[in-house]
Amino acid sequence: MQNRRRFLTAAACAAGAVFVSPYRPARAAGRPPGPPADPVFGGVVDLSLDAAERPQTLPCFGSKPYPLWTFSARDPLPIVRLKLGDRLRTNVVNNLPRPGEHISIHWHGLRIPIEQDGVPYISQEPIEPGGHCAYDFVPPDTGSFFFHTHCNTVEQLGRGLAGLLIVEGDETEPPDGELVLAVRDWRLGEAGFLPFLTDKGAGNAGTFGTVRSTNGIDGPVLPVPAAADVRVRLYNVDPTRILEIGIDGAEAAVIAVDGHAVAPFPLSSWRMGSAMRIDLLVRTPDAGREASIVDYRVAEPWTVATLSASGEGLRRGAFDPAPLRASRVPKPDLANATTIGFEFASTAVASTLAAADERFPGIDDLCLSDRTFWSINKQSWPADGHNRLPPPLAVLERGRTYIFDLSNISKQFHPIHFHGFAWTHLDSTKQDLPPHLADTVLLVPRERRRVAFVADAPGDWMFHCHLIEHQETGMMGYVRVTG
Ligand code: C2O
Ligand code: CU
Repeated sequence: MQNRRRFLTAAACAAGAVFVSPYRPARAAGRPPGPPADPVFGGVVDLSLDAAERPQTLPCFGSKPYPLWTFSARDPLPIVRLKLGDRLRTNVVNNLPRPGEHISIHWHGLRIPIEQDGVPYISQEPIEPGGHCAYDFVPPDTGSFFFHTHCNTVEQLGRGLAGLLIVEGDETEPPDGELVLAVRDWRLGEAGFLPFLTDKGAGNAGTFGTVRSTNGIDGPVLPVPAAADVRVRLYNVDPTRILEIGIDGAEAAVIAVDGHAVAPFPLSSWRMGSAMRIDLLVRTPDAGREASIVDYRVAEPWTVATLSASGEGLRRGAFDPAPLRASRVPKPDLANATTIGFEFASTAVASTLAAADERFPGIDDLCLSDRTFWSINKQSWPADGHNRLPPPLAVLERGRTYIFDLSNISKQFHPIHFHGFAWTHLDSTKQDLPPHLADTVLLVPRERRRVAFVADAPGDWMFHCHLIEHQETGMMGYVRVTG
């Protein structure tokens, strides 16, 4: 599978050009039943994204409208569906109302060429207001992915600017239904959104929202067929909050982590930091009964969604989830791997400001705060990083296997994300985790974790904490793959 380098042209961007196109759904409604006979298709999907301010209300807002920033007038969180092998051609236009508020699209978790990776100043020019940009690639993997801007992310994501990207073709046995659940908070004030970044939050566990939601609803009740096997694609799209997911009233298995198939294992509890995804297969209860997916990380467990069962009852046998098709991620060659250590730490300024709770003063051109609370290997991403890019955190040779030895020497949790690759989990000093692949791993305080991957694509790949306030206050860098 060398799709990754099939389209080597850079994302084509232009400033000031007029390109306005209404959002179109990825495909017409109606999915063919059953698993594909051949898992590789090869269609072309055209997607238009129009980043703009759209004041609107969501059920979790009460009746009040808030000035959301979204990609689509049709849907505050568009879902783009492709089949494995489909080519996605995206045109994005920046119609955000604020002068200088530039954007770019990062395709989180997709192993695509660096030119399509969507990081301003690193892999493309920022898309200025009035400008547009085209992305063109074939996602090489099936799974549950998403996309978001990579600039002033704390505010842009805080206001809603994201979408989900689902690549189908991994099912070996069709489920009886599918739910897509996107969990996030909103920071609602009396007169609009509250500040998205606070010193107190950035220096600690982040600034939480005031209202929680799944698909814009605080605790939705969703109809499902009774005694059926329903696939649930569960996304944590919050910039901050960590979830601890369990299920009550039904059996469930984890069938994918960050989009990649795992040998199905029973869901007891699974922690998900910002940007992390799991796919579940849930055996729904009998007609008239309910099951709930729950976040147990909070003192008062919060219901992510209630599944309300009705109808005939489709499955009689014991719950026996079929594995998804194996991932196409290249297998690391551990015998010949090079290990590189990374330490995630707080800076001195973080401790002195940890007690402060003032509004964050300003975000610079690269959309990063001018304070650094966090570092990777003692290096903090500089506030004016677009003027003086820091050196890479590591330089890797294309084609070789690397083990990243990730060490959290701080008191906070950090969901650590690496662009463009999927890591194979090796081991952890703090958590007993099953074999899985991930693009974002949640390091608990004092944890040391090893992950491995093949550096099969050249480029400068961002490597950062996905707790966005940590990312924007220093915990970001990049790794260069040469060749
Ligand atoms: Cu979703 Cu650089 O991240
Ligand atoms: Cu962090």
